Amino acid sequence: MQRRVLITAALPYANNHPHLGHVAGVYLPADTYHRYLKLTGVESIFICGSDDHGVPIMISAREENISPPDVVKRYRDIQEKVFSSLRIEFDHYSGTSTCEGHDELAQEFFLKLREQGDIDEKVTDQFRCSSCEMFLPDRYVEGTCPLCRAEGARGDQCDSCGGAFEQDMLIDPFCANCGSAPELTSTRHWFFRLDRYEQRLGEWLESREGWRDNVRNFALGTVNGGLPARCITRDLDWGVPVPLEEAKDKVLYVWFDAPVGYISFTREMFRARGQEEEWRSWWTGDDVDIVHFLGKDNIIFHAVIWPAMLLGHDEFRLPADIPANEYLNFKGEKFSKSRGVGVTAEEILELFEADRVRYYLTAIAPEGKDSSFTWEDFIQRNNDELSDVIGNLAHRVFTFTSKNFDSKIPGGVEESPFATEVFQVLREARQGWTSALNRQRFREALDKVVTLARHGNRLFDAAAPWKSRKTDPVACGRDLAALLEVVHGVSVLLLPFVPQSAARLVGAFEQAAAPASEVVSVLGERPLLQPGQPVTGPGIVYPRLELPDDGEESDSGS
Ligand code: 2FM
Ligand code: ZN
Repeated sequence: MQRRVLITAALPYANNHPHLGHVAGVYLPADTYHRYLKLTGVESIFICGSDDHGVPIMISAREENISPPDVVKRYRDIQEKVFSSLRIEFDHYSGTSTCEGHDELAQEFFLKLREQGDIDEKVTDQFRCSSCEMFLPDRYVEGTCPLCRAEGARGDQCDSCGGAFEQDMLIDPFCANCGSAPELTSTRHWFFRLDRYEQRLGEWLESREGWRDNVRNFALGTVNGGLPARCITRDLDWGVPVPLEEAKDKVLYVWFDAPVGYISFTREMFRARGQEEEWRSWWTGDDVDIVHFLGKDNIIFHAVIWPAMLLGHDEFRLPADIPANEYLNFKGEKFSKSRGVGVTAEEILELFEADRVRYYLTAIAPEGKDSSFTWEDFIQRNNDELSDVIGNLAHRVFTFTSKNFDSKIPGGVEESPFATEVFQVLREARQGWTSALNRQRFREALDKVVTLARHGNRLFDAAAPWKSRKTDPVACGRDLAALLEVVHGVSVLLLPFVPQSAARLVGAFEQAAAPASEVVSVLGERPLLQPGQPVTGPGIVYPRLELPDDGEESDSGS
């Protein structure tokens, strides 16, 4: 049975401008994977949208004196624009507050869990700010730590001593929003009994193969440490209403409804296409692998709580893989808008083409550990690799072909030791690329392409066609045909990473080559370019870049 893949990228909160950390850790790898699967002929869909509920969006709305739906609309537009400028192409981008049927599906999860006894009710005391007229979630109540007396402890924990305590133990609590003293007020809430899923989750996680260690170990450690019941309702008026008479003013916790969006958005997409029931097979079929891309702060939700919800609902499949990334930092520090650390996607895209950003963010992808963005390194990697290795190889080979072979593929590629070496190099590159991409190791896969191009430059030097052109024109043509196979291979293997510029390179071979989908399965097995067919180089695809000068325009374009 041919495998299908449903890819999701963590739903961004609808109150921020995506920064490069988000892009590098979540959206770019997911898009690259989607492009790779499509290239290899695997049927796949890529689903995302905004995470519209939750307190931060309500607070943004209050601060700006607009409604939460207005905040959502503003940021969703920004996010969609950024993603499309980066050529991150979802099959469907929706939002949890606008997707048709989303509320009902989240409510169905809640009711199903409740019916089978997985949800408890409890009355608890929580801080409520009467001037803000709202209950204060942990991060909105500050005070003095009851353990070490440090100021600035938040909710139920203190960053100074690392201690954890009950919210009501905070000394001199105040509302982080308006500064007034909140009052402890009793309120009823609903709790998801995760302990009832510990065994099934543990067995499932134990049996996962090929998962990243950070994800599997963290999730297993959490499950083995015991799972307390988690409160899944909130006293707010923005969110999915709790579907119970006795909970009229409450909504589901944002993390309860958000992942349900992966399903409701899939359904919305197929329904908009007039395929009413198609979504179901993507969420229930044995032939589908569901792959969630996310940052490490989301592991617990996707590898523990969401699977418990899915087990409880008992209709949909569990994720096949959860490639979570570490963090991309900015010059060694965490990206932070409030502290002015970092660069937004919009800012860098004003200066450089999307492919330059995509290239660098994949080359330094925070896959096994945190990594760091610096402008110097951004310029250097682009220049040393894209310009000097890949661009240079393409330019040399195209120029030589145009000057000496009338821009046509020369014949006779398979009959020389040189060609044998070239094909071996191509085969190894393709195999390494495939294996890395199947494991979602994008950085490694990209490195295989650069290494192939580096090899190509060495092979060009070794063949010295500018000499053989005079002494042995047949050998010259034969070697050049093999070198063109390398440029073609590099171009096709680049497609998932830098789609626009790679398409320009691949376009040069349009009349001479087999389709890219065939190339990725047979590259290096046999010649793929038709002798005698035209090949027209696209000019300089990767001009060298210069360091932005106080954010001034610095890409020489093209
Ligand atoms: O951390 C975040 O940005 C969350 N909005 C991710 C949600 S992912 C999901 F489950 F929807
Ligand atoms: Zn307040």
